[in-house]
Amino acid sequence: MKSGLVKKVIFIIGVSGCGKSSVGKLLADEIAIPFIDADDHHPLSNIEKMSNGIPLNDSDRMPWLDDLNEIALKHLDTGCVIACSALKEKYRARLNKSSQPNFAWVYLKGDYELIFDRMSKRKGHFMDAEMLKSQFETLEEPENAIVIDIADSLELITKRIKSQLKISHKMKSEIGVIGMGVMGKSLSRNLAGRGHRLAIYNRHVDGKEENIAVDFKDAFSELDQALPFDDLKAFVQSIERPRKIILMVNAGPAVDAVLNDLSEVLLAGDIVIDGGNSHFEETKRRIDEMKKKGLFFIGTGVSGGEEGALKGPSIMPSGDKEAYSKVQKYLESIAAKDSDQRPCCTYVGSEGSGHFVKMIHNGIEYAEMQLLAECYSILKTQNHSNDEIADVFESWMSDLGSYLLGISVDILRKKEGDEYVLDKILDKAGNKGTGKWATGSIADSGAPSTMIPAALFARYLSFFKEKREAASKVFPTKHDHSEQISISILKEAYQFSRIVNHHQGFSIIERVSNQNGWNVDLSEIARIWTEGCIIKSDFMKELVEYLKTDSSLLVNEQLIPIIKKTHSAAQTIAMECIRREIHVPCLLEAVNFYHGIKTAHSSANLIQAQRDYFGAHTYKKKNDPSGNSYHTIW
Ligand code: 6PG
Repeated sequence: MKSGLVKKVIFIIGVSGCGKSSVGKLLADEIAIPFIDADDHHPLSNIEKMSNGIPLNDSDRMPWLDDLNEIALKHLDTGCVIACSALKEKYRARLNKSSQPNFAWVYLKGDYELIFDRMSKRKGHFMDAEMLKSQFETLEEPENAIVIDIADSLELITKRIKSQLKISHKMKSEIGVIGMGVMGKSLSRNLAGRGHRLAIYNRHVDGKEENIAVDFKDAFSELDQALPFDDLKAFVQSIERPRKIILMVNAGPAVDAVLNDLSEVLLAGDIVIDGGNSHFEETKRRIDEMKKKGLFFIGTGVSGGEEGALKGPSIMPSGDKEAYSKVQKYLESIAAKDSDQRPCCTYVGSEGSGHFVKMIHNGIEYAEMQLLAECYSILKTQNHSNDEIADVFESWMSDLGSYLLGISVDILRKKEGDEYVLDKILDKAGNKGTGKWATGSIADSGAPSTMIPAALFARYLSFFKEKREAASKVFPTKHDHSEQISISILKEAYQFSRIVNHHQGFSIIERVSNQNGWNVDLSEIARIWTEGCIIKSDFMKELVEYLKTDSSLLVNEQLIPIIKKTHSAAQTIAMECIRREIHVPCLLEAVNFYHGIKTAHSSANLIQAQRDYFGAHTYKKKNDPSGNSYHTIW
């Protein structure tokens, strides 16, 4: 194992009461390596003897010294401070059986009177004069140790030790990152590149994950000053307080496992930021659990994939506002910048609102991706080549520009040899779960945001490849190519569907924010989504203004004429797709939702009547403002 700052094992030795533990702890803290108190490592038999007032003999001590030797060897790469009386030369020889050059010895020297006086003044501590005397009688002063006079203050003592051991004063890290996966690495390079003193940690798993943080640091020049660790305690101790630690581990049980380990070593007031795609309710639970331990937890949506994390993602933090104010400068410095150079990072609200907003971001992303896939599908059935479809999409960039449209152009054009890469990709769309969560929240909240579920189920349907192949043989599709679908009409249909998708996405955020009292500022969310994230687009930039006045995009004065204009194109494409048997669930859902939301008098009265008929569920009457419930004997 490698890692750490000062790669030395420093033994602090001396008689009881010389201050070994206090000096050792302070020294370890200052140079950011672990502290080990030898007394905590006695075997049970020694503990029993001592608690019965029986002094230890040499054969009691030897196995304990051997254990300490092993502990020391394990810390060779990270360095550590071990406080151990080690009064006799043979004890010290046993502690360093293999004569390690990286073992250093510090002898805290003081006379009997001084130590006795100090011990007697210590509250709740009593040192028998005879016992202290016997310690001095046993003591064989070391020859090869740095001798430090204990008459000085703790600070001066540690300063002397550092100077004699030639340990330069290392500044602690400002912030740490746990988890050197793709996103963790990119975020770490981003943080270090902005001049933040950084500690990085990746767990050690024999044969699988070894020296990850060290190797990663060595690979990138911006990480020159970063401190790499695979020892969690040493990592935490290398960070200044209150500690600020960003977790970039897989959402789910891994987050709880790391938090569990971290809770053992963090101190009150320390702050952990979860930058993964965690479920917002889990985030709320974690905030509460950490709070009980005096720790702060901030759930943070981070969007932008690998490149975004490296160059500037969109960041959606939530949780305790005061704790956020302590990490704000770091998150803002690494975030993408909007067109006014403001960071695409904003405090979303309390609880898990940041992860909620990120989840809906992903839902909107699912529907945006599906809409592009549907346009691709329509154009393919018209026998357009990939390059031609890329040309079409590219021509849309000037007024419907978005990150997802842009990457689709690149994807459609990409060839390996003579073959398009896209044509070689199996048509089964995967998902990591945020679309499923978004769909669940939509259902829970009672919002009619139908395009996200439609996009999710389109992915699920794609997975049934074998069933689709079988059904395609039984029910062959009759594509009618007699008339070309107009590209300009398709473009308008795409534009219309995107408006509905964004309307639905922001509506669900507004609804759940109201239900939870989060006060999410929709315009500010649109602003931090104008750069850095996967759904950044020219349209999103327009929404920043629109959402300042209208939380419903369907009533926005600027959008109303566009919706009216593009609706008939969406209708035409929807009808053509049905006629030509092209599967376009998101486009149909956009059109259908629009028809539903503008139906003043719907057929839900029949549903209510049916419910009342078979279940006496009652109904309300149109012209009864009292809201009374009625039941009919049908
Ligand atoms: C982002 C992305 C990112 C990732 C999601 C979606 O904003 O950077 O949304 O979070 O791509 O995990 O993944 P799935 O499509 O696999 O659900």
